[in-house]
Amino acid sequence: MKSVEIKPDIHWIGAIDWAIRDFHGYVTPDGTTYNNYLIMDEQITLVDTVKDDFAWITIDNIKHLTDPSKIANIVINHIEPDHASGLDKVMSLMPDVNIYISEKGKKGLERVFDTSKWKFNVVKTGDILNTGKYNLLFLETPMLHWPDSMMTYVKEAKLLISQDAFGQHLATASRFDDEFMECSSMAKLDDAVVDYYANILMPFGNLIEKKIADVQALGLEIDMIAPDHGVIWRKGAGEILQRYLDLAGGKADLSVSIIYDTMWHSTERMTLPIMEGIKDEGVGCNVIKLRATPMNVAIKEFWKSRGCLIGSPTLNNMLYPSVAEFLYHLRGLRPKNRIAGAFGSYGWGGGAVRAAYEELNKMKLKTYEPGVQVIYKPSKEDELSCYEFGKEFARKVKDYHKNFK
Ligand code: FEO
Repeated sequence: MKSVEIKPDIHWIGAIDWAIRDFHGYVTPDGTTYNNYLIMDEQITLVDTVKDDFAWITIDNIKHLTDPSKIANIVINHIEPDHASGLDKVMSLMPDVNIYISEKGKKGLERVFDTSKWKFNVVKTGDILNTGKYNLLFLETPMLHWPDSMMTYVKEAKLLISQDAFGQHLATASRFDDEFMECSSMAKLDDAVVDYYANILMPFGNLIEKKIADVQALGLEIDMIAPDHGVIWRKGAGEILQRYLDLAGGKADLSVSIIYDTMWHSTERMTLPIMEGIKDEGVGCNVIKLRATPMNVAIKEFWKSRGCLIGSPTLNNMLYPSVAEFLYHLRGLRPKNRIAGAFGSYGWGGGAVRAAYEELNKMKLKTYEPGVQVIYKPSKEDELSCYEFGKEFARKVKDYHKNFK
């Protein structure tokens, strides 16, 4: 692997993880990258490190540019292990290096490593490190998405090193957005952006809007955004900022995601007339069976659509386990600006549809109740009820969607 100069004397020196398919529980069919950067200024400065298994790659990349012992500073924007578990291996080559980090980051590292000999410099928003021709401005971004998180803005390069924000889980030979789109597509890149946002940043929409407003208030000129995962936004820095504002502000497709599971195909049979009803109202529809779909993909599809219908059979008077797991996970992500409903089937006592609404109401989502349910297998009359339910839900979705234009 070789480094890539992204701005004059600023080099990407990260690692590509082609093989990872389980990123702390998320399915990552396209792998990921661990990006970090070396600023070859009068004071050579490393920004971020990488996951432990890949430390040898970033060390190798550093050695192609300089003797690691000549590095004066390390900026640590985030201490999650995919970025900081390789830190001690890198640090062993530069024992006198100055570390620039947030207060919470320092405290976190002290729990993980023997830091007794490390030279910490705790920084806050607005602090500047001058490395020679470059000035590095630190921006704390607590809870985006860990308490320690911060970003580093390289003023003279108009470069924002944004840590996890604006990232994507994509292992690719392309280092830049425009390169990626030449050999793939904007749709694939945007899908990766939404997947990342929905699964990691969904709870923090308000914070994202505020932080972007803070950056704009500071008058920072940004013509490149370099996240710590995926491609660097060289052509589309403005567009990805706007995309994040849209995602944080509740922008969604005029569509419904039907997210369901089934035991003996009764709930599954309900999805078809419901989908027909939605479609006949001119609203898009996507149908996702939970046992056939990784959790993070179901979450992404939920987030793309303005409306969501949860389908579940009743098992022991409760939700089917995969549906319960999905709703439990979704509640933790604190979804907003979506309308939801539920449907399902049962054999005798019922309970799943009621339980689904209980979960949706805990999330404080707007709901359309009471949903529709059938006993055993849907009859022709039941199918008509499902169709009408789909149509009525789609009308509610269209009404609600008007609030977001
Ligand atoms: Fe990519 Fe929060 O770590």
